[in-house]
Amino acid sequence: MTNPDYIIIRAEEDGVHVIGLTRGTDTKFHHSEKLDAGEVMIAQFTDHTSAMKIRGKAQIYSAHGVVESGNKK
Ligand code: TRP
Repeated sequence: MTNPDYIIIRAEEDGVHVIGLTRGTDTKFHHSEKLDAGEVMIAQFTDHTSAMKIRGKAQIYSAHGVVESGNKK
């Protein structure tokens, strides 16, 4: 059941974490990827991943548009 859409995360500071959470009755972290400023991760929702948590300052591009995570001034 992988969603064909990709989510793009562009880190705007060092140490941004992209955390994958499991699909199913248990919702647990299963993967954490650390991005430094300017690094990009391209990811999908899959059989194993139902949600993602972004920690740190990043731009997140998806079918829903662009959102910014991280500290607001
Ligand atoms: N093995 C994971 C999966 O197939 C890889 C993955 C896909 C992932 N999307 C992710 C990891 C998003 C972290 C965040 O689901």
